[in-house]
Amino acid sequence: MDVFTLKQLVAKAALEYVKPGTILGVGTGSTVDCFIDALAEANMALKGAVSSSVRSEKKLRDIGVPIVELADITGLDIYVDGADEIDPAFHLIKGGGGALTREKIVADSACTFVCIADESKLVQTLGHFPLPVEVIPMARAVIARKLQALGGTPVWRKGFVTDNGNDILDVSGLHISDPCALESEINQWPGVVTNGLFARRGADVCLIGSGQEVKKLLLAPTTTICHNGVANS
Ligand code: A5P
Repeated sequence: MDVFTLKQLVAKAALEYVKPGTILGVGTGSTVDCFIDALAEANMALKGAVSSSVRSEKKLRDIGVPIVELADITGLDIYVDGADEIDPAFHLIKGGGGALTREKIVADSACTFVCIADESKLVQTLGHFPLPVEVIPMARAVIARKLQALGGTPVWRKGFVTDNGNDILDVSGLHISDPCALESEINQWPGVVTNGLFARRGADVCLIGSGQEVKKLLLAPTTTICHNGVANS
């Protein structure tokens, strides 16, 4: 099965977590695009959605889902989003699409973060995918030097401006042995808006497209269950 078909498969599987009449948190990316298509196909009557990007907001509006401001609600039950890398503890790297800050805000407001991805995103250790760091433009060079001092190679994502009007540095070569510590360290530098490590608030459930099927990975107890309910490891 090709990667796009796997994305469609996991997107459909995530509908299991969506309750009609509720407000849903929606992420950003090509897998989430498939998820929004699946919402439309299933004719899902949502009360609304909190979107993590202008891109997803437009797509949601196009299928008739009302956009709700996070400030107008007290929290979300479910947040559905993709990832660039997923480690065995469900720590993630996100932000390949540049929406990391709003994604982190919405994820943090949700009780359950359902991560949808194809199996190419599963890794033992995070860091092969360059870590996106959103920075206030004025601080870009300062933060780049600090990231170099950590052993990383930051590259300015030229020509890209985030939905919040900021720059992105994509950092390769980081050895991410402690994702929670690194997330906290980078986030406390003045000028950093946030970084793409989702470790302090990782995913709760991962739906992974693998081979011909969707595997539901749960953190505790550590089990791998086929989406059709058949345990396979
Ligand atoms: C968007 O900023 C990202 O965090 C995406 O969730 C991530 O890059 C996964 O994107 P794809 O679904 O396109 O692989």
